[in-house]
Amino acid sequence: MKKLQLGTSSLKVSNIALGCMRMSGLTEEKAKQVLHHAMELGIDFYDHADIYGGGASEEIFAKAIDMSPSVREKIILQSKCGIRKGFFDFSASHILSSVDGILERLQTDYLDVLLLHRPDALIEPEEVAEAFSKLEKSGKVRHFGVSNHSPMQIELLKKYVEQDLIVNQLQFSVMHTGMVDAGIQVNTKDPNGVDRDGAVLDYSRVNDMTIQAWSPFQYGFFEGVFVDNDKFPELNTVMQNIAEKYNVTKTTIAIAWILRHPAKIQSVVGTMNTDRLSTIADASELVLSREEWYEIYRAAGNVLP
Ligand SMILES: NC(=O)c1ccc[n+]([C@@H]2O[C@H](COP(=O)([O-])OP(=O)(O)OC[C@H]3O[C@@H](n4cnc5c(N)ncnc54)[C@H](OP(=O)(O)O)[C@@H]3O)[C@@H](O)[C@H]2O)c1
Repeated sequence: MKKLQLGTSSLKVSNIALGCMRMSGLTEEKAKQVLHHAMELGIDFYDHADIYGGGASEEIFAKAIDMSPSVREKIILQSKCGIRKGFFDFSASHILSSVDGILERLQTDYLDVLLLHRPDALIEPEEVAEAFSKLEKSGKVRHFGVSNHSPMQIELLKKYVEQDLIVNQLQFSVMHTGMVDAGIQVNTKDPNGVDRDGAVLDYSRVNDMTIQAWSPFQYGFFEGVFVDNDKFPELNTVMQNIAEKYNVTKTTIAIAWILRHPAKIQSVVGTMNTDRLSTIADASELVLSREEWYEIYRAAGNVLP
C-alpha cells in the first residue's frame, strides 16, 4: 500500500484510510474481521469521531482490534470533536472533555490526530488554542487539523493556534467535485465556477495540508452510492471500460480517480465489507492517465470550458 506524508508532520500513512463511522452497526466478531483484513492490506490509518454511533464506533473498534501497546504502535488513530446535538461547540471545555471520552473509548493514552469536525459559527479561536496547547502538553494529542473548513476559517485558527494544522477532511469524490470545478471554471459564467470552498484545494497545496476525502462513493450528502447506480449510466460505462483495461472494478477506479490528483489526497473509505475493501486497496498504486481522469470527470456530468 502506497504511503503519503500527512501534512507537515513526519507521519507516513497509507493513502487509503478506513473510516469507522459505520462500525457501530457491526458485531464485535464482524468488526474484528474487517480490521484484521484492513491491517493485512496495509491500511494503518483509522478515522473516528466522538459522534459516530454516539461513541459506540470507537468502543467496538478498540474491543475488536484488541487494543494493547503493541497494536497501538502499529496504527494511526484520528478522531474528531465539535459536533453536539443541535449545535457546534469549539469551546475549550468541550474539546478537552470530548478528547477524554475518545481516549477512554479507544482504550489509548493518545490520539495521533484530532480534527475539529465542522465549523462552529461561534468559534472563539483563543479557546481552541488553549485546548490544543493543553492537549499537546499532556501528550493526549500529537497532531491537529480540521474538517469541512474553508481557507479563511483555517487562517483565523492559525492566528491563535500554535500547532500546525496538518489535515482538512472534506467531501470529495467523482460525484462531489466542487473544489475542482471552481478551479476549472474560473472566470467563466458557468454555475460550476462559483467558488463555495474558498479555493480550498489550492490553499491546501500551498500550505502543505493533506486533504482527506470523505464519503468517496456517495453522491449528494449521503443520498447513496454512485457505483452501479442507474442514475449515472454514462459514468458507470466509462468507469467500467477503464476498469476492464486495468483488470480491476469500478469501485477501484472511483478511488484511483481521487488518488490521481497531485494534491496527494488521502481517501477515507467507509466500507465494512472485506471483499470490497480488497477491491478498494487495488487503487492504492493504480495511477490513471490524465486523459482517463478527465474522461471520468466529464462522464460525471461536468463540462469543460
Ligand atoms: N468529516 C466529515 O464530515 C465526514 C462525513 C462523513 C463521513 N466521514 C468519514 O468518511 C468515512 C467514509 O464515509 P462513508 O462510509 O459515507 O463513505 P463511502 O466509502 O463513500 O461509503 C461506504 C458505504 O457505501 C456502501 N457501498 C455500497 N456499494 C459500494 C461500493 N461499490 N463501493 C464502496 N462502498 C459501497 C458501503 O457498504 P458496505 O459496507 O456493504 O461495503 C458503505 O455502507 C466515514 O467512515 C468517516 O470516517 C467524515
